[in-house]
Amino acid sequence: MKFAFTHISAILLLSLLLFSCRGQKTDQPPVRTHFNMNFQERFNSQQENRFFEDGMAMRAPVEGTVARGLLRHDTALFEGVDDAGDYISEIPFDLTRDFLYRGKERYDIFCQACHGATGDGQGIIMTGGYGYVPAPTFHRTESRDMPAGEFYSAIANGIRTMPSYATQIKVEDRWAIVAYIRALQRSQNVPESEMEIFDVDLAQLLDEHMVEMARLEALAEARAAGASDEVSVTRGEQLVVRNACQACHSLDGRDGVGPTFVGLYQSERNFTDGTSAIADEEYLIESIVEPGAKIVEGYQNVMVPYDFLSESEVQSLVEYIKSLSEE
Ligand code: HEC
Ligand code: HEC
Repeated sequence: MKFAFTHISAILLLSLLLFSCRGQKTDQPPVRTHFNMNFQERFNSQQENRFFEDGMAMRAPVEGTVARGLLRHDTALFEGVDDAGDYISEIPFDLTRDFLYRGKERYDIFCQACHGATGDGQGIIMTGGYGYVPAPTFHRTESRDMPAGEFYSAIANGIRTMPSYATQIKVEDRWAIVAYIRALQRSQNVPESEMEIFDVDLAQLLDEHMVEMARLEALAEARAAGASDEVSVTRGEQLVVRNACQACHSLDGRDGVGPTFVGLYQSERNFTDGTSAIADEEYLIESIVEPGAKIVEGYQNVMVPYDFLSESEVQSLVEYIKSLSEE
């Protein structure tokens, strides 16, 4: 009996102790029997430390230190170039179906709006008349000959007026997009002899294509008929803005992706093939509708042909460029 009584009083005492732990707030620091790791012998970031000559507690990592997971010595994978610094032509991943689908998904999210669903450069941003630099088609010989590494670099670093997508697209996905662009290029460039293995009626496909082309041509004609045929410097100036010519050609004499328009008219132009010419009206027109015909020395053949502009639009551009050469 006595034994049970001591037990009960012990339990009562304990519960009393527990009750005393609850309820009241206090500003006093808690009573601790054990300090865990609340107080350590260490320095906080940015704290002073007289031990070192520069008085800073924070030390720079030893030169050549690489954070875990950030070792990027594989230049082919991370930069698209080999040891000599040349673009690699092979995609450094296995080209599985899943990889290509991943590439398609990423392409449709990040590239399609400008480069078009088939890579023809006719994305909604380009056809909407918003004044963007036109995105070139991927189905030109230059584009087909472009090494895989150069496509990768365009995504990782941007290219000329196109910005980099490095922050949005991770390394593996960039390569998946490159693989998908290769597939797009292939899809638009299959030799007739190879088409035989597919169960398609080539003659019918060609017919459908001709009908579509005729429809587009009629549409363009209708648009041209409704458009103004005014030729003026003012209209030329508006067209320069609307077609983003000034993204590559400066209007203040500075050099850019392309030569400046200032002082261009009637000046002597030297071309990459060693020939030269005076920049007269005829030359300016050709430079706009067929820029690949003569490549100005020191520049690359990267301007898309503006052959979709009407005659009066091209003439207005020429008048505007001429106006930049008058005192
Ligand atoms: C906002 C529009 C836009 C988006 C989105 C875009 N591009 Fe571009 N891209 C351009 C323009 C404009 C150019 C031409 C730039 C120039 O010549 O100054 C270009 C040029 C390129 C070129 C060089 C082509 C050549 O023949 O010289 C490559 C390659 C390219 N883009 C790939 C991509 C890929 C891959 C994506 C998606 C990750 C992408 N672009 C997204 C507008 C865009
Ligand atoms: C993506 C950049 C780019 C855009 C956009 C662009 N051009 Fe060009 N253009 C060039 C480059 C690069 C050259 C020089 C290489 C060559 O001759 O094709 C050039 C050459 C020219 C030339 C010949 C210049 C010379 O010094 O002899 C004319 C004229 C011209 N462009 C007009 C235009 C007009 C007009 C527009 C807008 C409707 C335009 N360009 C849009 C890049 C561009």
